[in-house]
Amino acid sequence: MNTLVTGRRLARELGEWRSNAPAYKSLAERIRVLLMDGRLASGARLPAERELSQALDLSRTTVAAAYSKLRDDGFLDSVRGSGSTLRLPGRERGEHALHTGLPLDFTKATAPAYPGLQAAYAAAAAELPAHLGHDGFDLVGLPDLRESIAQSYRDRGLPTSAEQVMVTIGAQHALQLVTRTLYSPGERILVEQPTYPHALDTFSSIGARVLAFPVRQDGGWDLPEALLQIRRAAPTLAFLMPDFHNPTGMSMSVHEREFLAAAAAREGTVLVVDETTALLDIDRGPLPPMACFSPNILTLGSLGKVAWGGLRIGWIRGPRDMLAQILRNRPAVDLGTPLVEQLAATHLLADLPSMVASRSLDLRRGRDNAVSLLREALPQWKVRSPDGGLNLWINTETVSSSALALAARAEGLGLVPGPRFGIDGAFERYLRLPFSYGEGQMRDAVDILARLAGRVGSDPLRMPLQAVI
Ligand SMILES: Cc1ncc(COP(=O)(O)O)c(C=O)c1O
Repeated sequence: MNTLVTGRRLARELGEWRSNAPAYKSLAERIRVLLMDGRLASGARLPAERELSQALDLSRTTVAAAYSKLRDDGFLDSVRGSGSTLRLPGRERGEHALHTGLPLDFTKATAPAYPGLQAAYAAAAAELPAHLGHDGFDLVGLPDLRESIAQSYRDRGLPTSAEQVMVTIGAQHALQLVTRTLYSPGERILVEQPTYPHALDTFSSIGARVLAFPVRQDGGWDLPEALLQIRRAAPTLAFLMPDFHNPTGMSMSVHEREFLAAAAAREGTVLVVDETTALLDIDRGPLPPMACFSPNILTLGSLGKVAWGGLRIGWIRGPRDMLAQILRNRPAVDLGTPLVEQLAATHLLADLPSMVASRSLDLRRGRDNAVSLLREALPQWKVRSPDGGLNLWINTETVSSSALALAARAEGLGLVPGPRFGIDGAFERYLRLPFSYGEGQMRDAVDILARLAGRVGSDPLRMPLQAVI
């Protein structure tokens, strides 16, 4: 069945959609922007005209004209009686626009595979026969891998036993398992604003009510606002990235960790701490993991950023009773983590310090190169140099990043615009730029950005349609 986008949700996603163009054109263009950058999926069903006209306080004729324009331009299929379905020309239903195939694809914050990966897989293949007596459905993880993961926490100063670890198929899967287990319909989830887009996707896929509190590059985590939200709305879960927050690259101070852990514990909110990027320290130095400050924290981890995204090994660290609950729910989602990857991950973890050191060197090079290129080519943009993570979170001050992303796509550069990281259409003037790509690629990307920044301007809707196809 096609996902139905409600009028209220669409109104939220649209953000500041009006421009100097007639309202129906502005609306159609804005919906197209949402489709192009993945905030609305190809195959999603738009609300009925009457519902959207009420949600936006617009005449029904305007909404009908906008839908009609989208239809004429090939972005909408309407069938009497079954509504209007978004369509990205040339793509299959449900596929996101972000799998670009563009020559300069900066839509993903990933890093190249660790050079020792092949050796780890070879060792894993050699060990496989010893595991073939196993039925292969491994819902908790191989004992040696769980122990290696536990050891990695002990090395960071957090006492952990193998029984407190469940191995998963990456951190995204871990988040899916946690959310499905702990969240019930009608409850609320607190997130940082901005946040990791696929966490928002996970929460919206179960219809969760999401609240947000700000993380600012110049002021950190807004603790009074977080406290207010936790007290007022009693969210079931709060999703946080204290170590190299995606996309800002910030890290929480020890005081912020203590404060948020205590506030959540008092109100019964479970903190889901995503540490997928925690090992990407460039020049910060160690800080205690958030779980040092409260026993009721679920920590998500992954080898995706230090080793390779394609490894698909992650984990959940948490109290045994919560892991037991997650384990009971897991078969509804999947039937276990593949064994060869787990064996390879065990070898990689034995090499963790050198893997982390090699990643850190590459990221330092990438970050410094990106920051200096951008500061030279676009001095009017505010580019903060983070001390970890994979991304720059750039405040362009005036440029619409949705329009910039559309224009860049026409030049072969894939970007994710700022609003993908927020709720309610926030961050239109921000751009997330991963710095983990090669020097030459970054130079080409910055050249394109510098060329387009002046042309695109601040209006998200000004780009001509033909520029993006
Ligand atoms: C914050 C965050 N969480 C989770 C993930 C997904 O991790 P994995 O590839 O292990 O599923 C990513 C990857 O981009 C991420 O940045």
